[in-house]
Amino acid sequence: MENNKLQRDSFGSKFGIIAAAAGSAIGLGNIWKFPYITGVYGGSAFIIVYLLCIAGIGLPIMLSEFLIGRRAQANAVGAFKKQAPGTPWFLTGTLGLAAAVIILSFYGVVAGWTLDYVFRAITNQFANMAPAQLGDMFGGFITSPVRPIVWQVVFMLLTLGVVLGGVKDGIEKYSKILMPFLLGIIVILNIRALTLPGASEGISFLFKPDFSKLSAAAVLSALGHAFFSLSLGMGTMITYGSYISKKENLGKTALQVTIADTVIALLAGLAIFPAVFAFGIEPSAGPGLVFITLPNVFNQMPGGYIFSILFFVLLAVAALTSSVSILEVVVAYFAEEKGVSRKAAAIWSTVAITILGAFESLTNGTVNFKLPFLKSGEILSLGFFDWMIELSDMMLPLGGLFIALFVGYKMLRKDVEDEVTNSGAFKVGYVSAFLFAVKVIAPILIAIVFFNNLFGFLK
Ligand code: PFF
Repeated sequence: MENNKLQRDSFGSKFGIIAAAAGSAIGLGNIWKFPYITGVYGGSAFIIVYLLCIAGIGLPIMLSEFLIGRRAQANAVGAFKKQAPGTPWFLTGTLGLAAAVIILSFYGVVAGWTLDYVFRAITNQFANMAPAQLGDMFGGFITSPVRPIVWQVVFMLLTLGVVLGGVKDGIEKYSKILMPFLLGIIVILNIRALTLPGASEGISFLFKPDFSKLSAAAVLSALGHAFFSLSLGMGTMITYGSYISKKENLGKTALQVTIADTVIALLAGLAIFPAVFAFGIEPSAGPGLVFITLPNVFNQMPGGYIFSILFFVLLAVAALTSSVSILEVVVAYFAEEKGVSRKAAAIWSTVAITILGAFESLTNGTVNFKLPFLKSGEILSLGFFDWMIELSDMMLPLGGLFIALFVGYKMLRKDVEDEVTNSGAFKVGYVSAFLFAVKVIAPILIAIVFFNNLFGFLK
């Protein structure tokens, strides 16, 4: 309560806002997941559907989150409490908070893998390993009890360190350094990959449409990934929106962040597939693309030692600016709603989330954890780790649905207009189209995805 009287921390500059929000969006989702799901679902046919999801649903929901947050000047739960007092709308924020805890728990584990691979790259451990050995190395590593947890803890401490610095002097400051660094690395990797003889086969794999692979599952995956990739549906952009100054143009900011995220995903694909095909390697689908196939590629590539270090550093940096944004959702909640100091909120949330993640990591091999309350079906054969990933795939679209409905039906049009025009400081031409997207398009499409995921989940 008292915290509300204090001046809230906020982003200090336009570039800082873009760096922080794009830093949240650009993460393991772009560099690890987007390339392989694109490969699995037919290259550019999938990309076309993904771009439609980004433009028709992702962008309007990002703007919705920004405007909910900035209008309320509050965290993900507080924003709904302030704008719809005495109603259950705040549960949208609570759901987001739960999603943040779940996502950060496994995100920290995978990000820990990337740190381990930075270490392996620096110590030249991939050299002379046959593809099967690289596979065994990865499998052995992620199923081992201690090593992945040690790296997960290191990564979570880095995340904590940034968040402890605050919004302007922590999150914004590091994003302003790390995001240009990330862009530089990815451009170098693109130049390397695209100048390899035989790179064109990888380009056509990525961009030649194969509509036969474009199943219903592909469309659903495109939408689900749009949420994950743009950090939507769990209040991250509500929280960051609350730190955006009243002078900024929210529609323009949302557009810039969306474009940055999409461009980086495409560049990641253009760094990975041309290199993979240039060496005649069959791209593996799934997590192994980055952790097994790529070390094999680096082994054969001129300068592979350096490029392998750059690649895994890129992954770790991308992961860090995203994990910071997820932790901030939780920290802002406890600091503003529960009156806990930011420092205590950050430390205790990190401890709790790290313990949950460590347990998930153990279920990859050491602990055989079955969920007692799910009766039957495939899900029982999954470890807790995979189960958490599946669960978050459902929570984000559900959160996105409520956010869209809130802006579309609960907020008044005049308030929405007031927020996107900075109280009439400039005119925007998109309000009707935006409201149509959040009232009609997004809810219908999200409902389809949500029920499909739910039935897949329970079958
Ligand atoms: N957008 C991040 C990625 O693509 O890796 C992951 C993420 C961050 C998801 C923040 C959700 C979120 F709220």
